[in-house]
Amino acid sequence: MIFKVLSNPTSSGSCDSMIWLIPLTFFTGIRDALKYLTEALRSISEVELDDTIENVIDAVEKQPLSSNMVEQSTVEAAVQECSQASDEPVENIFNVIGAFDIPRYIYNSERKKFLPLSMTNFPVPNLFGTARDKAELFRERYSILQQRTHRHELFTPPAVVSHPDESRSKFQLKTIEALLGNTAKVGELIVLGMITQLKEGKFFLEDPTGVVQLDLSKAISFFGYFVFKTLLGWYEDEVFHVNAFGFPPTEPSANTRAFYGNINFFGGPSSTSVKASAKLKQLEDENENAMFVFLSDVWLDQAEVLEKLHTMFSGYSAAPPTCFFFCGNFSSAPYGKNQIRSLKGSLKALADIICEYPSIHKSSRFVFVPGPEDPGPGSVLPRPPLAENITQEFRQLVPFSVFTTNPCRIQYCTQEIIIFREDLVNKMCRNCVRFPSSKMDIPNHFVKTVLSQGHLTPLPLYVSPVYWAYDYSLRVYPVPDMLVIADKYDPFTVTNTDCVCINPGSFPRSGFSFKVFYPSNKTVEDR
Ligand SMILES: *[C@@H]1O[C@H](CO)[C@@H](O)[C@H](O)[C@H]1NC(C)=O
Ligand SMILES: *[C@@H]1O[C@H](CO)[C@@H](O)[C@H](O)[C@H]1NC(C)=O
Ligand SMILES: *[C@@H]1O[C@H](CO)[C@@H](O)[C@H](O)[C@H]1NC(C)=O
Repeated sequence: MIFKVLSNPTSSGSCDSMIWLIPLTFFTGIRDALKYLTEALRSISEVELDDTIENVIDAVEKQPLSSNMVEQSTVEAAVQECSQASDEPVENIFNVIGAFDIPRYIYNSERKKFLPLSMTNFPVPNLFGTARDKAELFRERYSILQQRTHRHELFTPPAVVSHPDESRSKFQLKTIEALLGNTAKVGELIVLGMITQLKEGKFFLEDPTGVVQLDLSKAISFFGYFVFKTLLGWYEDEVFHVNAFGFPPTEPSANTRAFYGNINFFGGPSSTSVKASAKLKQLEDENENAMFVFLSDVWLDQAEVLEKLHTMFSGYSAAPPTCFFFCGNFSSAPYGKNQIRSLKGSLKALADIICEYPSIHKSSRFVFVPGPEDPGPGSVLPRPPLAENITQEFRQLVPFSVFTTNPCRIQYCTQEIIIFREDLVNKMCRNCVRFPSSKMDIPNHFVKTVLSQGHLTPLPLYVSPVYWAYDYSLRVYPVPDMLVIADKYDPFTVTNTDCVCINPGSFPRSGFSFKVFYPSNKTVEDR
């Protein structure tokens, strides 16, 4: 506590006066918090009081504390969390969250906590990133994986020690800085880092603490650099000798939450993670008719595409889906000076078709995620929504429609869905050094890469440019319930780390196929 107050840059005055300040602020904080709590608990019956207080204490412990003192704001947030379960606002049921509205959390390695941006000295993100943003980008991508890997059972000593040899964890996870200090050989190490080829023919491993040369001659299977890998091996004579490679281990979101509590990392109106809401879970289970339809490459300028959409709406008119997700490109023609005018015209044509099916027009929602070649500011991610003047007429004709960013997030009851329109599979394959085998299961490997890297585009920035200060909006951590990667690669459905990953495929190029998802039983069907 003393440290907290002394290091506060806004405190002024001599040391003596500050030491006197500590007990004062401490007691004022507590007194306000207690007063608030007494008020808040007044309406609770005596029978429920013990349980309620216990819940509030649990919730307080899960809040990201700004200091070691419990303040009124913390208690307020905790009480709100507890009361929310019984009284869920209806606006929490379905939300489309644009990339620029995702909350930013920064991992603080000293406190072993994620802190919201407002509790750090980081600047508010800006599209014109600074050099600091670029440096932070890799440091943050790394620190997320580092804290997750560190917690993995491989590195945690067993709680019950039955044999003296078991008292140490299997392997030691080291930073590069820690390696470089050794003069003698050190073995059985795991290092987390990114492999780069700084000099012709020589590979190096980098993490935020340093760079070390690699000897790959004994490595079993080596493929895909420019992503974070865990490397098992030994260090001797200033070289790290690699025995084997792995992906940093993934972590189901339930485990992440068990560790960090009910922080709402995902975004949306709920003050805490929707996973904690029993009411939303109940709504989700009860609403068996909920249904999401995913289509990609919806080329609205092609008569055949519009015709197939007609057929689809006609098929669904008796039981309208909850939401249609349409991903771009929205035109088949390459970018040209008439594209904006023709896109407005094609959207009008789509609106006219939707209006022919009143049940769908009245009860389904429409979410539009722009593709890489739709009108917009180039290929840097995240991509803003289609311009308002392009979509205005459509939105007037179809009011339940949202034109959002790429990527974007959907929260439905307690489920979290990330949608991303990008031709990533080919990009990723092109940036692999060597494949382990020619018969590799590409969809499985691809999904594993994205989840293990905790990032939608785990590629160098020259391959996949991002606005540095918004890199966090491409995080895939904590792991969502569903990840939709709309790619022109063949459609697939893969489940990994409790996450359903689908690629609806290109609608016109895959024989007009698409995917349907039922949130109540988490089932995906091919259409
Ligand atoms: C999941 O739910 C949907 C809608 O109720 C139903 O049509 C489908 O058959 C269910 N699938 C499974 C595997 O239970
Ligand atoms: C967008 O559509 C055009 C025309 O088919 C195609 O050439 C281009 O590859 C598409 N872009 C992406 C990234 O799919
Ligand atoms: C839409 O608005 C942008 C500026 O926001 C403008 O540059 C563009 O010409 C407008 N397009 C149309 C079709 O009105």
